[in-house]
Amino acid sequence: MGGRKIIIIGGGIIGSSLGYELVKRGESVTIVEQTDLASGASGAAAGMLAADCEHFEHSELQNLARLSRDLIPALVHEVKEISGIDAGLNQQGFLTPARDNLEAEELQARIIAEATGQWWVPEQLAAAEPALAKGLSGAIYRSEEIQVMPSKLTEALAFSAQATGAVLLRQTEVTRIQVHNKRVEGVQTSRGFLPCDQVVLAGGWGTEQLLQPLGLSFPLEPVKGEIVEVQSSVPLLQATLYAKSIYIVPKPGNKLWIGATSIPGDSSQGVFADSIVRLISEAAKWIPDLRHAQFERAWAGHRPKSPDGLPYIGGFQELQGLYAAAGHYRNGILLSAITATMLANEMEGKDTPGINLDAFRPDRFQRQLEGGVLR
Ligand code: FAD
Ligand code: GLY
Repeated sequence: MGGRKIIIIGGGIIGSSLGYELVKRGESVTIVEQTDLASGASGAAAGMLAADCEHFEHSELQNLARLSRDLIPALVHEVKEISGIDAGLNQQGFLTPARDNLEAEELQARIIAEATGQWWVPEQLAAAEPALAKGLSGAIYRSEEIQVMPSKLTEALAFSAQATGAVLLRQTEVTRIQVHNKRVEGVQTSRGFLPCDQVVLAGGWGTEQLLQPLGLSFPLEPVKGEIVEVQSSVPLLQATLYAKSIYIVPKPGNKLWIGATSIPGDSSQGVFADSIVRLISEAAKWIPDLRHAQFERAWAGHRPKSPDGLPYIGGFQELQGLYAAAGHYRNGILLSAITATMLANEMEGKDTPGINLDAFRPDRFQRQLEGGVLR
């Protein structure tokens, strides 16, 4: 294949990953972003590639998450070479600590059931992470889990796509998808009409509006999430701490990102004062010295969630040339690499060996709606 004109709507992590993948395959790619790269959920994320900690209930999604996590380190190096942007890959692993013996037993059972991670006894934990609260009963340590600076990775991918031949249009909104005889013809934008053979909806939460005039839908709900950043004078944490109610992610410059809230259906932009108080006091239970760190900033973003919590990846049966890569909910940074590979294969008419995309079809709720059973 190669040489088709493809328009990607959205310069978040998903649109940027896909743009880079497609241009490497020789396609003629334009990424259209209404504001700036990573201005949506991708710029609000914590950047964790936590395929095991996030605990996916859907087995195929769990499989995709692990595959994707393992693709990211090489990709980070590759796009740094091309774009000069360092995505801040941190490979210090993830810790899930136990407060008491009961929690320790639960976590040890999880290691056996999931066959991932290793058990750190309290002395090992205290030696590796001396700033953690005293008296913890051990922890699961997962060396495979990694994390990045999500905005930087998005920019590195988009600018690498551009350097490899893609067109990057920022401050340009797609207002309509032009269709003729059930085939995509192009998109109308705030700067004029762009003809193309294929269009990919990667606009995150809010993209659905573009489908309504076409009589199509893929429902997405915003799930608001807030994160607090603090900075300490000395490093307080090496690995990422991923507990039941909170995560604490060490970032360059002795910064810690403490997240996150989860508020379904809330599309408001600001950060609630109560959320800041709760996140910091919960985090200080794990790292007492965090109370002496400087408060730097807090922000909010909206996780794009479908009714079944699974992403939309693939083509629309009703309309030739229309594809979706959206609705990655809590794990769009993690799933970005495998999403780009799978969708690029599908757009070339190929399967991805060993992967079944049926559960992620973008028209799965459309079909249910026609059958009258949309939940
Ligand atoms: P977005 O990043 O929202 O990008 C869509 C882009 O499309 C936007 O830039 C938007 O401006 C643009 N756009 C929309 N409509 C149009 C249009 N009509 N024309 C042109 N452009 C348009 N995931 C992880 O994997 N790990 C984490 O640690 C993690 N932590 C998170 C923490 C928080 C607080 C939140 C809110 C999310 C977190 N996520 C995490 C989830 C992750 O952020 C999302 O799943 C992911 O960013 C979705 O990427 P996207 O590219 O689909 O959407
Ligand atoms: N994956 C982390 C979050 O969504 O908060």
